[in-house]
Amino acid sequence: MTRASSPTLGTTAHPIVTPIVALDVPDRRAAQAIVTRLGAACGYYKVGLELFAAEGPEIVSWLRDAGKLVFVDLKLHDIPNTVHGAARSVARHGASLLTVHASGGSEMIRAAVAGAQEGATASGGCGVLGVTILTSMDSAGIGEAWGREQVDVTGEVVRLAGLVAMGGGAGIVCSGHEAATVKSTFAGALDLLIPGIRLSGGDSHDQRRVMTPRAAADAGARWLILGRAVTGAADPVAAMALVDASLAGAV
Ligand code: C5P
Repeated sequence: MTRASSPTLGTTAHPIVTPIVALDVPDRRAAQAIVTRLGAACGYYKVGLELFAAEGPEIVSWLRDAGKLVFVDLKLHDIPNTVHGAARSVARHGASLLTVHASGGSEMIRAAVAGAQEGATASGGCGVLGVTILTSMDSAGIGEAWGREQVDVTGEVVRLAGLVAMGGGAGIVCSGHEAATVKSTFAGALDLLIPGIRLSGGDSHDQRRVMTPRAAADAGARWLILGRAVTGAADPVAAMALVDASLAGAV
């Protein structure tokens, strides 16, 4: 297979923000259907645990060969030596972004960054993002998991973002609602990737805290994760056009 030399990014109406479509599907066949349907409307895809576990790293190579950039969302969390090796392997397959859990600590994050740098020579660089607190967790859930009475979620997100900055990570994953606080605390040091994006008037599904593309951009996003708002739309290409229109402030 020949690898496309310069991946094509989808057109975006915003100078900074890049939309990434989540391939939350069980196999390559289903992923291929989305990528084919969207065509030039999307140049950046997220491969998560479900698809990676089903298809292995070949799915990353396949997307790269199709001229797409790939965010590998494995949320690694292990001893630094193991995470170093895993990050190197993922980067070797051509990922442009990779996630680790920020709660693994700054030493683990630093190991991931070093591994990603070692593996990324052929793929043009792989940024490491720290997942702060999963958007599925609320204060009570975090309290239960971490053995605490009261948890200030935004305070914890900022604390964990500090570990990512200390470990040399490129940025963090956080909800749009914490974005402005993180952005003002770590101005310039961390880029933000924001999931839970919904088009104006669209279904919020099981996400509790959603934002439009424009609101996320205004809160300081660098990347937006588009899941069902695009892949579940009757016309995904039209939905991507609405994402661009939202970013442009037109809707
Ligand atoms: O369909 P929907 O837009 O809700 O999909 C959101 C995507 O973003 C999913 O792939 C989900 O795993 C991911 N994500 C999230 N919240 C996080 C991190 C990732 O929803 N904190």
